[in-house]
Amino acid sequence: MLKVGVIGAGHWGPNLINNFHNHQKSEVAWVIDRDPARLERVQLRFPDIKVDAEAETAIGDADVDAVVIATPTSTHHPLVRAALEAGKHVMVEKPITDAVDTANELVALAEKAGRVLMVGHVFVYNAAVQRVKQYLDDDALGRMYYISMVRTNLGPIRVDVNSAWDLASHDISIANYWLDAEPVSVSGIGGAWINPGIEDAVFATLRYPNDVLVNMHVSWLNPRKNRDITLVGERRMLTFDDMSISEPIRVYDKQVAEQTTSPDFVDSFASFRMSVRDGDIAIPKVASGEPLRSECEHFVDCVLSGNAPLTGGREGTAVVRALEAISRSVANGGREEAVTG
Ligand SMILES: NC(=O)c1ccc[n+]([C@@H]2O[C@H](COP(=O)([O-])OP(=O)(O)OC[C@H]3O[C@@H](n4cnc5c(N)ncnc54)[C@H](O)[C@@H]3O)[C@@H](O)[C@H]2O)c1
Repeated sequence: MLKVGVIGAGHWGPNLINNFHNHQKSEVAWVIDRDPARLERVQLRFPDIKVDAEAETAIGDADVDAVVIATPTSTHHPLVRAALEAGKHVMVEKPITDAVDTANELVALAEKAGRVLMVGHVFVYNAAVQRVKQYLDDDALGRMYYISMVRTNLGPIRVDVNSAWDLASHDISIANYWLDAEPVSVSGIGGAWINPGIEDAVFATLRYPNDVLVNMHVSWLNPRKNRDITLVGERRMLTFDDMSISEPIRVYDKQVAEQTTSPDFVDSFASFRMSVRDGDIAIPKVASGEPLRSECEHFVDCVLSGNAPLTGGREGTAVVRALEAISRSVANGGREEAVTG
C-alpha cells in the first residue's frame, strides 16, 4: 500500500485526493494546504485523512512514500525539490515548473535519487488521445502535414502563468506524444487584457521535424468551451472533439492526390494533376475511461514496478522548453524562436 501526501487542495487537488484514496494500492495519509477553508472541506469529505498547512509535515513523514503536488505552477519547483531530497517519489501537476533550468534540475535530482518523477499531463492518459496515437503509429493517416488545436473556455483565469503555460501545456504534451518528437521552433502572438503582462489568449505555431506544423489557439477568455483538434495527413484526416463523450474521433478518408485517370472536366493544369478524394467518414468506438484515474494508477504502478512513466520529468521538461520559446516569441512580437535548453 503506497502512502501518499497531497499538497494543494484547491480546484484540482481534490480530484487527485479522491483517486489516490480510492485506489486498491494507495491511500492518502496527508493533505496539505495553506488555506484552512480548503482543509476544512477535505476533512468533511475524507475524515480519515490527516491535514496540515505546512508541506514539510507530509514531506518529512517517514511513512509517506510519494508526494503529489497540485499547487500553482510557480510553487512547483521548491516543493518537488524538497520532496525528492527527502527521498519521496513525486507526481507534480502540469507544467512541471515555470522554467527549463529548474525543470532540468528536478529531472537530474530524481534520476540521481532513483525516484519516480511524473508530470500530470492528463491528456496522454485519455483513451481517445491514445486511440489517435495508435492511428499514427499504424501510419493510417500517411505523412502528417499539420495539426490544428483549439482549447478555449471562459476561465479559470490564472495570475501566476499565462494561458499558454496553463492550457497549451496540454496541447504540447499531446502533440509531442503523438508525433514522438518535440518542436524545433515556435512563433506566438498573445494578448493580455484582464491582467497586465499575463496573456489571456495565445495563438502559437510550432514547427516539428519532417515539416509538420502544429497550430494552437488557447484562451480562457472565450464564450465557448472548445476542445477541438484536426490532424491532416497525406492519406487521411482526423478530427478529435474532446467535448463529445460518445463519438470523439472521426476519420475522414479524404485526400488530395495526383490524378491517375483523366477527369471529365478540368479548368487548369494544376487541377488536372491534383484532385480531391472525398471518401467515407469513420467513427471508431473509443473505450470510455476516466483519464485522471488512469494517470494516477500509472503513477502507482511506476512507483511499485520501477518502470519509467509515460509523462516523466523529461517529457514534462520538453513541454516547458516549448512553452519558454513561445513566451520568448510572444515577447518579441511573434518572431520565430528556436526551442532550446
Ligand atoms: N491536469 C489538469 O487538467 C489540471 C486542471 C486544473 C489544474 N491543474 C494544475 O493543478 C495545479 C493547481 O491548480 P488549481 O486550479 O487547483 O489551483 P488553485 O489555486 O485552485 O489551488 C491551489 C491550492 O494550493 C494551495 N497552496 C499554494 N501554495 C501552497 C504551499 N506552498 N503549500 C501548501 N498549499 C499551497 C492554495 O492554498 C490552493 O488551495 C496547477 O499546476 C494547475 O496547472 C491541472
